[in-house]
Amino acid sequence: MAKRPRIAVIGSSNIDLTTFADRFPEPGETIFGQKFDLGFGGKGANQAVAARLCGADVFMVARVGSDLFGPAAIDNLRKIGIDTTHVKQIEGLSSGVAPIFVEPNGQNRILVVKGANDALKPADVDAAAETLKTADCIVLQFEIPVETVYYAIAFARKHGIRCILNPAPAQAVEMQALNGLDYFVPNESETEAITGTAARNVADAKKCTEKLLAGGIHRVIITLGANGCLLAGRDLSEHLPAFTVKSIDSSGAGDAFIGSFAGFLAEGIPEREAVRRANLYAALSTTGIGTQKSFYGRARFDAEWARQS
Ligand code: RIB
Repeated sequence: MAKRPRIAVIGSSNIDLTTFADRFPEPGETIFGQKFDLGFGGKGANQAVAARLCGADVFMVARVGSDLFGPAAIDNLRKIGIDTTHVKQIEGLSSGVAPIFVEPNGQNRILVVKGANDALKPADVDAAAETLKTADCIVLQFEIPVETVYYAIAFARKHGIRCILNPAPAQAVEMQALNGLDYFVPNESETEAITGTAARNVADAKKCTEKLLAGGIHRVIITLGANGCLLAGRDLSEHLPAFTVKSIDSSGAGDAFIGSFAGFLAEGIPEREAVRRANLYAALSTTGIGTQKSFYGRARFDAEWARQS
């Protein structure tokens, strides 16, 4: 590793309740599912875990609930080696939870109840400011209040810290707040919701990147599932294909991509190669069940990279 990167994730922590079923029940219908998995998730925590497993020093700024899940989620991050000094329990609120439904082809549908994630405020970014200033990269998503996300982007810009925003789940964005953002990384459905243009193939995704870049973002990476991703900036637009794997559960693949990409980039790997590595890291995560628990450690990933790249 060229340099040991330091990544800050300001974001969500959830408990994932993943159900595997052949199909979804119709309204008023009860059917049997095949399998159930309870695991630690949340887009923020997943991205933090991916970055940590890839070898970065990681710290999180997050909020969990005053229920059974809260202390367990903090303990899980600690055991993985993530600094949780700025992860706090909020009295009277539930932890974030996410019922996830996975179809036989590995495709997932996720419902998020934000709970304590919604209590993460701009003042909490200020409270963590001295630690945040030591980061090579700040990673953000949309499972916390959007005002906190915009505040953190402005903080990163002010202090010259690279910033990656994963606008998930999708919501309307204020393009002005994203002006100067280093990386904007949506998937197909988030791209469509934000730009108003479908991004179901590479050509359409290119049109979407043009809209987003016109708003002052430096780089856009649209993740396209089995089609890989599109990396675009004012000076480039390149489709990077996915790696072929036997996928059984795609939950958390986007998070695997973002967390690993943040780590690879911050350790000094050139951008294009960092994206290709993140593509493989994300693909490998779909070969296991669950979100964080399907992520590869660095040695295992490096062996696959050497084999597949
Ligand atoms: O991206 C997957 C994640 O989305 C899950 O872990 C779930 O908690 C939701 O945040």
